[in-house]
Amino acid sequence: MEHIVINGQQPLVGKVQIGGAKNAAVAIVPAAIAANGICIIENLPDIKDVQNLAASIEKLGGKCRFLDEGKTLEVDASCITTHVADYDLCAKMRSSYYLLGALLGRFGKAEVSMPGGCDFGYRPIDYHIKGFEAMGAKCVLEHGWVKVSAEKLTGANIYLDFPSVGATINLMLAAVFAEGTTKIENAAREPHVVDTANFLNMMGAKISGAGTDIIRINGVNELGGGRYTIIPDPIEAGTYMIAAAITNGDITVENIIPKHMDHLTAKLRDMNCQVEEGEDSLRVYRNGDLKGCDVKTSGYPGFPTDLQPQMATLLCTACGASVVTETVFNNRFQYINELKRLGANLKVEGRTAVTKGNCTFTGAQVAATDLRSGATLVLAGLAAKGETTIGNIFHLDRGYENLESKLRALGADIKRVVVEE
Ligand code: EPU
Repeated sequence: MEHIVINGQQPLVGKVQIGGAKNAAVAIVPAAIAANGICIIENLPDIKDVQNLAASIEKLGGKCRFLDEGKTLEVDASCITTHVADYDLCAKMRSSYYLLGALLGRFGKAEVSMPGGCDFGYRPIDYHIKGFEAMGAKCVLEHGWVKVSAEKLTGANIYLDFPSVGATINLMLAAVFAEGTTKIENAAREPHVVDTANFLNMMGAKISGAGTDIIRINGVNELGGGRYTIIPDPIEAGTYMIAAAITNGDITVENIIPKHMDHLTAKLRDMNCQVEEGEDSLRVYRNGDLKGCDVKTSGYPGFPTDLQPQMATLLCTACGASVVTETVFNNRFQYINELKRLGANLKVEGRTAVTKGNCTFTGAQVAATDLRSGATLVLAGLAAKGETTIGNIFHLDRGYENLESKLRALGADIKRVVVEE
């Protein structure tokens, strides 16, 4: 078992290169199944979820080859021989649901285990299923498997009750081969939805409107391969921006799209941080004491739920009270119990967490409960007096590349240790 050990209260200073976006990568790698040719995907984050998706494609009979230290992946899906995905690999990741849309689109059938991934309570995939059914597919859930099949996929008008990122992308994946036009209304507008649409269009798909709440897909018969570069990760970038503020440091996040960070930039400025914008970078440092502010998560361009835990942690250390409201998931405050071991003064009432602020974290032994909770415990540990030990760090390896080495280069006292179980 591995732990992360941090000796806190070092101000982090310097530049950090942000990797490719996890939530774009985990959609674009399965999307390569749609191509009847070789896809070369660049700027991938070197993380476990991407490795598991590549392994899943290999188990289907496809060929995957990592190049450039895991940052580039060559996928040849022309040799896929089965529509049944490896149960255990898929049960480890939420994003394995994209294999459903990709295989259904290309082969008319798919069998994938119910997805795993971060546990924020009930995470249904009913919008995905309803959308596939609207396109003419039959869907069965049995023995832990999701099985979908269609004699012929036909374009449909689909309205999502909530702008779900996963459902929007999955329905695009299936619809690229459906006969006629599919319209997705109340679609998610996240940058990784746009990135996936751009990737599919590069291969010959006909998708318009991605980035707005209405996406139209005109079905085609075949997609070819090609070369594509994934967008930078706004959540990784945001985590380092918050690290600058929480350690009273001065960090420049590089290789990013500043526009994708507007939600966080605005909040950090409200909190009395200086955020200086370059062409593909943002520099963050404090002007003085941090001030509290209120944050409410929502779909893009609103404040992302994937930065809610990190932001709530930062707000604990500000002067004055703050209110954090989570509107995307019904149970995304479970990190707070662990954060309290480090001294957090957060009180939860339903979907709202309130902090009085003025908290100084003190090191303790804690365990990550999911990916972003792991990141938040790292941030609190970096700010804490004394030593913090974080367990269950496999969660972090699913989504943050080279976390310790990037933080060490900024001056953090952080290491990974192997401990006896
Ligand atoms: N929802 C349904 N039915 C569905 C799909 C979603 O009720 O069929 C509900 C969910 O329960 C939730 C809301 O709709 O309340 C939004 O869920 P969404 O589908 O947008 O989330 P997701 O596809 O499960 C992806 C990311 C998450 C990120 C969310 C929101 C991947 C693999 N996961 O999840 O990423 O939090 O979108 O942006 O892309 C993370 O990176 O830490 C992470 C959890």
